Amino acid sequence: MDKLYEKALESAEYIRARLHTQPRIAVVLGSGLGDLTTDLADTREIPYAEIPHFPTVSVAGHKGALLEGMLGSQPVLAMEGRFHFYEGYTMKEVCYPFYVLKLLGVEKVVLTNAAGGVNRSFAPGTLMLITDYINMMGTNPLIGENDERFGPRFPDMTEAFDPSLRTLAEQTAQELGIEYKEGVYLGFMGPCYETAAEIRAFAGMGADAVGMSTVPDAMVCNYLGMKVLAVSCITNMATGIQTVKHSHQRVLQIAAESGERMCRWLGEVIQRM
Ligand code: HPA
Repeated sequence: MDKLYEKALESAEYIRARLHTQPRIAVVLGSGLGDLTTDLADTREIPYAEIPHFPTVSVAGHKGALLEGMLGSQPVLAMEGRFHFYEGYTMKEVCYPFYVLKLLGVEKVVLTNAAGGVNRSFAPGTLMLITDYINMMGTNPLIGENDERFGPRFPDMTEAFDPSLRTLAEQTAQELGIEYKEGVYLGFMGPCYETAAEIRAFAGMGADAVGMSTVPDAMVCNYLGMKVLAVSCITNMATGIQTVKHSHQRVLQIAAESGERMCRWLGEVIQRM
């Protein structure tokens, strides 16, 4: 994206003029995981289509808006709807919102997604706190000329998922009695689900879950110096582990069912962040 910095600045200035708070925390809501927004108070919505330079949502019926609201005393910006590489967006478009969030003063980003379980000790409905990622998307959002105003040419990914935020999530889960697992998320380009052979390969590589988002987001947020906390909702077991074929309907149904637990957990974590 040409003139990324200048465009992101214009987007950020437009959003800032419409905000009533100064959110330091942003949340990205994955497929079927939109429930968190119902816990927000004093909400105001800014449709992506009204924000200059923002990518527009392609699929009819998909939400595309920034939602400002309060979670307790914590001002939050929620992204209702994210951009996926498989939809045909460039990687820079997929990650564009994070450049804008950075310029808005956001410091911490909470990412959620629906994912397939590769670890056989998981089951549909498991919540997985992401400890690390494997990039199998075949590309990288940071390819191209680097703008040092955003971040370094060779960003470090040693702590792609912030250890202190993970500790906070662990403590909060214990207090609330919420069960969760930890694991490595592998990002797959999609839009096909994986083959059984791919899943065997990914298991051998150390993946615990597989999905079609989150990896580019986590890369760019780290590059921009924003801390990341991420949770997968395991909506199905990956190909070859589950005996039935995949169904997006089923994915959405399990996400909606487990979403309540995820929202109770992350809602509390965010208030303590
Ligand atoms: N694979 C990839 N992405 C997914 C899956 C899966 O099994 N389930 C939900 N998102």
